[in-house]
Amino acid sequence: MPDSKSIQVNTTPAYSVTIAPGLLAACGSHLRALMPPCHMAVVADSTVAPLYLDTVQKSLSGAGFTVSTCVFPAGEEHKNFSTLSMILEFLAERRLTRTDCVAALGGGVTGDMAGFAAAVYLRGIRYVQLPTTLLAAVDSSVGGKTAIDLRGGKNLAGAFLQPAAVLCDTDCLATLPREVFAGGAAEAIKTGVLCDESLFSLFEDGTLAAEPSEVIARCVAYKAGVVERDEREQGERRLLNLGHTVGHAIEACSGYAIPHGHAVAAGLAVIARAGETLGWTEEPVAARVAACLRQNGLPTGSDFSPEALAEAAYADKKRSGGDITLVVPKRIGLCQLKKIPVRELLSVIQAGLEG
Ligand code: NAD
Ligand code: GLY
Repeated sequence: MPDSKSIQVNTTPAYSVTIAPGLLAACGSHLRALMPPCHMAVVADSTVAPLYLDTVQKSLSGAGFTVSTCVFPAGEEHKNFSTLSMILEFLAERRLTRTDCVAALGGGVTGDMAGFAAAVYLRGIRYVQLPTTLLAAVDSSVGGKTAIDLRGGKNLAGAFLQPAAVLCDTDCLATLPREVFAGGAAEAIKTGVLCDESLFSLFEDGTLAAEPSEVIARCVAYKAGVVERDEREQGERRLLNLGHTVGHAIEACSGYAIPHGHAVAAGLAVIARAGETLGWTEEPVAARVAACLRQNGLPTGSDFSPEALAEAAYADKKRSGGDITLVVPKRIGLCQLKKIPVRELLSVIQAGLEG
């Protein structure tokens, strides 16, 4: 296929991420090349379903799959136990077996929840990711992290399960509201800060909107390497949480009204500023990060108090006993893990908000 890019993720099991326009209309034949005809339960939210479900259903049926569709209300506030329970009951009612498959058609919320349902239904069945947001394309559809939010915090219940395939149809980006596209840009900018000055500079000069498939492929290739080396987040994979300690706290403080990508953007700006103030980060990283985020329509701070953010961050998975591990940029393209006592988190956040 012209314009098609493919990246192999050598986890257990291994799978490929295909990035191309028009993939949803061809998803049936792509998936038939990977598995025999089976019952495919397609999970989508109420915004994505009217846009893309029909195309996917036709393609899958045409390739010989039996298709059931499960639609839930869109939004992070529905990434919870009651939606998970609805999806699990749906799979049971439709009598899916271990030779069947779940397809997550949508953004990160759909991927995380449908993936978690696949991980626990019958103690684990196969699933595939059909990402429709930039955020899902550059980050959440790859790597096998699945989760729901609990009242106590973000992504607090979940499982690791690698998808059998990721089919990223870049045509889906055309229907994204500007704010949702920007949320994906935040995770892509995060990747540039983590690993690659030249990738970061693409966001400084506005290349993202012009050539999203190039940016998606570079972000996925980087993430694939990290996940292959550290599938269960015992070490290096923790770097991918850059911006997330404060980001998750902002999301939680807002009652999930602030979208994930926007909260991560603010978290990225805060940790870069704190890093400079505390001597961990070289200048002018904070100014470059903030300018780049602004240029891509993203926030660089928060109105929540440092005390409220620190309190919310105590619930974070990155805390372990009396310590919390922060991801801190040293320079653009190089970040490091910094373990600090939890009692110092408030002063780090204060430095990041005030710096
Ligand atoms: P989302 O799935 O809620 O999508 C954002 C909005 O865009 C929704 O309203 C959705 O209906 C709509 N939408 C999706 N595709 C569309 C399209 N093509 N056209 C028009 N509208 C469309 O949110 P998101 O930003 O994609 O993902 C955020 C979630 O991803 C968070 O819950 C976050 O925790 C999770 N996440 C997971 C990982 C991981 O590794 N598992 C990584 C990063 C983020
Ligand atoms: N988005 C963080 C991770 O996949 O590990």
